[in-house]
Amino acid sequence: MFTATGKQTEHLVNLTESSCRQLAIFGGPMCVRGMSFDRWRKAGAMDILKIAAYAALGRITQAESGGPVSKLEEGFCRLTTTEYALTMNSGTATLHSAYFAVGVKPGDEVIVPAYTFFASAAPILQLGGTPVFCDIDEQTLTADPDDVERRITERTRAICVVHIWGNPAKMDRFVEISKRYNVALIEDASHAHGAKYQGKPVGSWGDIGCFSMQGDKPVSGGELGIAVTNNPELYDRMLILGHYGRIDSDQKANSFQSDGLCLGLKYRPHLFGVLLALGSLSRLVELNKRRKENYKILADELSGCKAVQLVESYIEAERGGFLEFILRYNPEYSGGWDHTAFAKAVKAEGVPIDIDRYSAVSGMPGRILPETDLFSKLNYSQFGGAVGLAGRCEEVKSVYDNYPAAKKVATRLLRLPAFTKVSKRYIRQCGKALRKVADIAAQCQDLRI
Ligand SMILES: Cc1ncc(COP(=O)(O)O)c(C=O)c1O
Repeated sequence: MFTATGKQTEHLVNLTESSCRQLAIFGGPMCVRGMSFDRWRKAGAMDILKIAAYAALGRITQAESGGPVSKLEEGFCRLTTTEYALTMNSGTATLHSAYFAVGVKPGDEVIVPAYTFFASAAPILQLGGTPVFCDIDEQTLTADPDDVERRITERTRAICVVHIWGNPAKMDRFVEISKRYNVALIEDASHAHGAKYQGKPVGSWGDIGCFSMQGDKPVSGGELGIAVTNNPELYDRMLILGHYGRIDSDQKANSFQSDGLCLGLKYRPHLFGVLLALGSLSRLVELNKRRKENYKILADELSGCKAVQLVESYIEAERGGFLEFILRYNPEYSGGWDHTAFAKAVKAEGVPIDIDRYSAVSGMPGRILPETDLFSKLNYSQFGGAVGLAGRCEEVKSVYDNYPAAKKVATRLLRLPAFTKVSKRYIRQCGKALRKVADIAAQCQDLRI
């Protein structure tokens, strides 16, 4: 009889000793051998040389458009088939600018998925608006259009859909809903660079598409973001929020006269981040090709495994970006082990796995955004200003606090890195490790790790 510490325990009732010994966590042979280092370069040698060349000339900032900034914006317009793009210093800044541009103001509600990163929703508070969370489609993890429609009120100003983990949301439905109710549609495409729905790029379906280019994002400038739109007035409104260096020269519909001054925020990107992102964008096709192939290898390896499956996409969707490979764990086929124990045992096999982070907000497994203090308990009026006017959270919550699909997946999702430049053999070994632990767990129901 074994536990993770090797001690005898009353928990181990039905454990088959020989099965248990097979698990690496109990001293058995590891499934994954060799290095897990992903050889995909986030910063290419040429990108670094370009940054060095700009620095050598003393060019370390750029307030106006033109040069690398315009090149990046043209690149994103091509990628998303949109007219206008505005580079900013983060994805959060693009979401804030988008909500501002579509007119979110104190008293307004914005519908946003209960399963996402907090930055999809938090900028709504900055404008005095109220985030109203909606449930997700359990299969794809994207916003559930029927649930979104149920939550629309006369106060709804906008809907934000998130193409989570590069998986496009059901955009034809969301466009139809936003038109019928006359509410704005924002796409948070922070994970989904290059993804498409019905052949049309994400970011181009809604009024504004927002992309983070931070850290590990598929296109990255370290800390960076970009918003795209076909609407020149919305572009101008984003400009006047945080880009005083470009207000005079870059307005598309001449919406404002401002003496070149903006509303007090500075969302200008760092020039070096823009240079990094340009290099990264030039490699996006290759990155997406590799990730799709690797995802397929993992899918094949897990084919028929009921305990661990990959998250589904809509038939009209073409994934892109990914950011991470997310797995759905079904404990009913794996001895009832909870997902944290399962992940721990798989990790011991040499797989770089963990529990999903958007359903373990602030490090608490099973916790989703609507359950956080920020979105449920905080009394915003204590902060004063426009934020203080977002005082309706409690009321909205009491009426709609129900996210069965998001809650169900919250104790089932596991995360792997988005494998890009690793060997096929390594991915297969990871798949085998998942199957091995699931099979042994199924025989060891009472084991506690
Ligand atoms: C879905 C989503 N939206 C928005 C953001 C915010 O982007 P940034 O970190 O660039 O501000 C992130 C960042 O991880 C994200 O994952």
